[in-house]
Amino acid sequence: MSVDLNQTNIDIDDPNFKQIFTHLQGNILKSHGRDHSRHLFIKFKDNTTTSRKWVREFADKITSTLEQESQSTDFKKNGNNHLFINLMLSRSGYQALAIDKSQWPTDKAFLAGMKDLNQQYDTTPRLDDKRQHHHPKANPLNDDLSDWEAPFKSTIDGLIILAYGRQPSVDFAIADAAAEQYLDKQVAQLTCELEAVAEVITVQQGHVMRNDKGQVIEHFGFVDGVSNPKFLFSDLQEDFKNGGFNHYDPSASLHTVMVKDPGGNASSYGSYVVYRKLQQNIKGFWDRLALLAGTINEVSGSSEPINAEYAGALCVGRFKDGTPISEQATNGWTNLFNNFNYDDDINGLRCPLHSHARKTNPRNDTLRQFNAPPTIERSRRIVRRGISYGSTDLLPAHEWTDAGLLFLSLQSNIEQQFIFMQNTWCNNNNFLKKDTGLDPLVGVPSPKTKPAAQTWPKQWGNNDLTGNPPITFEFSGFVKNRGGEYFFMPSINFLKQL
Ligand code: HEM
Repeated sequence: MSVDLNQTNIDIDDPNFKQIFTHLQGNILKSHGRDHSRHLFIKFKDNTTTSRKWVREFADKITSTLEQESQSTDFKKNGNNHLFINLMLSRSGYQALAIDKSQWPTDKAFLAGMKDLNQQYDTTPRLDDKRQHHHPKANPLNDDLSDWEAPFKSTIDGLIILAYGRQPSVDFAIADAAAEQYLDKQVAQLTCELEAVAEVITVQQGHVMRNDKGQVIEHFGFVDGVSNPKFLFSDLQEDFKNGGFNHYDPSASLHTVMVKDPGGNASSYGSYVVYRKLQQNIKGFWDRLALLAGTINEVSGSSEPINAEYAGALCVGRFKDGTPISEQATNGWTNLFNNFNYDDDINGLRCPLHSHARKTNPRNDTLRQFNAPPTIERSRRIVRRGISYGSTDLLPAHEWTDAGLLFLSLQSNIEQQFIFMQNTWCNNNNFLKKDTGLDPLVGVPSPKTKPAAQTWPKQWGNNDLTGNPPITFEFSGFVKNRGGEYFFMPSINFLKQL
């Protein structure tokens, strides 16, 4: 049966959703929650019949939304660990499996593929973006394919995600090593099984990193994965208890992330996936933060000098511990609630307009600036399910470390959500206002333009230190895309009947 995708606050046990959640892959409406993962990028061999048979059989092992839920209960109650599995296909995957075109997902970016830098991106002015583009623009992400790792430059037909958690009540280091070992074994088995069907082009290894409080962090050291659209009653209840929704409502309609799977039946739904391997220059980032802090202190002449961590919070929009800088001038929030907006900081004097969290979720800024309806701003939201990779050890004779984020976002429309966010917000010097500058974390200038220097507040909430010039300082370039692809995560019942 089909359902109204405008619904939110879904009870996962609602019988009306039983069929749909039996066929919908896990990790879409709720994160699978495992700390370790392997991402196997595959290319099918020539024998379509064998490949389809393999997919059909493998579909039985994919973790559905309902299975993920029962596994999670089993883990919490009995400590039983379960292997989590997702399978997704790229446009070339649909082609390689000779799937009838009437069953293909229709998203424009998905059909073009991420490597197609000539893909025409429609930048007609929209209600929440008043730039005067009147022509379609190519390469909306400003990707530089020469930075891409070789495997990502080749054809990728599919991506399999295997994920496994650490065993509870076992020493962390031992449990982590055991989970890694278990996944290595699974990868070896699967690679063997795939031998006749597909080539494994590359395997990426993801692992969750945590701070002293056990919170998830990314490689620059900031708590990550705090703010995400929420679909399920249980998740919303948790957020509600943790601070309420009167300043920011994290609920999202199913339409944000689910679309009908054109290959399945009335109860088949899927989601579009953006995958990007984003390498982080940890040393460069922190060295530059120290310089930024020094510059702010020098120009502002403030009697309360700031440090690199504070400068980092100006870039991210949150302190390392997750405290939003729009809410207070120091870190130290005891919980990670998400119930804030920028209404009391419209000029960005606490949290700069260019900061990463503000660019990627302006929390009412576009309503004020462009008079755009809130529904449009909220419709840009993406579901983030990325995981860190690599270690922080410096490569010999290199500033960059082989570490970063295996960025993975889910959405119902790649162009209107992920691409819009990266192109029109992060990569745009003139969002929210003229000369705001790039997102200091992930903004990439177009090859023809230079990143403009961002303007930084002299003191928290105060730019009026008399006689002092504005503080301008260019901050970008510490995250590099090393490859990626667009996928569709089909319904399990579609894959089972291939
Ligand atoms: C939030 C780091 C890439 C979209 C955050 C936060 C951090 C962070 C520390 C704040 C914590 C939170 O609210 O969860 C990074 C790093 C990246 C990266 C280190 C690359 C290596 C991206 C990309 C996008 C993106 C490429 C999309 C274009 C978002 C969104 C939020 C967020 C939507 C939530 C903002 C909010 O709702 O307040 N990121 N991020 N991130 N990031 Fe990223």
